[in-house]
Amino acid sequence: MPGLKNSLGWQYIQKTKFSRHNIYSLKRPMIAPCGVFKIYQNSEMISLPEPIKLNVELCSLINNRRSHREFNKQAINLEELSTILWAGYGIREKKMGFYFRNVPSAGALYPIEIYLISFNIDTIERGIYHYFPRDHVLELIKRGDFSKELTQASLGQGFVSKGGVIIIMSAVFRRNMAKYSHRGLRYILLDAGHIAQNMILVGESMSIGSCPIGAFFDDEVNQLLGLDGEEESVVYMLVFGKKV
Ligand SMILES: Cc1cc2nc3c(=O)[nH]c(=O)nc-3n(C[C@H](O)[C@H](O)[C@H](O)COP(=O)(O)O)c2cc1C
Repeated sequence: MPGLKNSLGWQYIQKTKFSRHNIYSLKRPMIAPCGVFKIYQNSEMISLPEPIKLNVELCSLINNRRSHREFNKQAINLEELSTILWAGYGIREKKMGFYFRNVPSAGALYPIEIYLISFNIDTIERGIYHYFPRDHVLELIKRGDFSKELTQASLGQGFVSKGGVIIIMSAVFRRNMAKYSHRGLRYILLDAGHIAQNMILVGESMSIGSCPIGAFFDDEVNQLLGLDGEEESVVYMLVFGKKV
C-alpha cells in the first residue's frame, strides 16, 4: 500500500508511536509552555445563564443523534447555548492548579479554545464571540453578519450559516505540545472529539440538531476569528440549529 504510506497522516502515526524501545530515548524539541486560558482583555462580556439541569436518557440521545443540515427558523436561546458550551468545555472543579472540565483532556491541559459565530440566538447580536470557560462568559470579538465569509470558508457549504450558531474549535498547540511534543497533536484532536460529542448529545436533548464540519479552508476561518494559524489554528466546527 505505497499510497497510504506516502501520506503525511500515516507517517505521523508511525513516527509518533511509543514503543518499549524508544520511550526513554525519543528526541523532542524544547517547546516553551503558555497560559491555560486565552482572555480577550477589554472585550464586551456577555454573562451566560446557568446551564439547564437536564434529566435525559443517554441511550435515547445516542439512538436519535444524526447529522442535520436543515434547521427550523426558531432561535436558539441563551440558556440552551450556555448548556451546550458548559457540557462541552465548562469547568466543574479547580483542584491542584487545574481547572477540571466536563471532558477529559490529556494532562488536563485543555488546548482547545472555543469560538462561536451567532446567526440566530435570541438575546445576542450577530457576531463572533469567544467562550471564556473560567467565568462561563462570552467575549465579543466582532459584531456583524459573517454568513457569507463563513460559507465561503466552508467550501461553499451553505447550511453552515442557516442554523442558530456555529461553534468553532481551535487548538493552541503549545499548550499541549510543550508537554507531549510530537505526540501531542494526537491528543489535541482527540480532545476536540470529546468536546464535540458532549455538545452534540446535549444539543440533541434540547431538540437542537447539529452537524460536524471538517471541510473548511483553515486560514480563511483563522482570519475570520483573528487567529494566526501557527500558534493557534482552527481544527473543527459544529453547526447547531433547532430541528425541523
Ligand atoms: C470529523 C468530521 C468531519 C465532518 N465534516 C463534515 C462536513 O464538512 N460537511 C458535512 O456536511 N458533514 C460533515 N460531517 C458529518 C458526516 O458526514 C456524518 O457524520 C456522516 O455522514 C454520518 O452521518 P450521521 O452523523 O448522521 O450519523 C463530518 C463528520 C465528522 C466526524
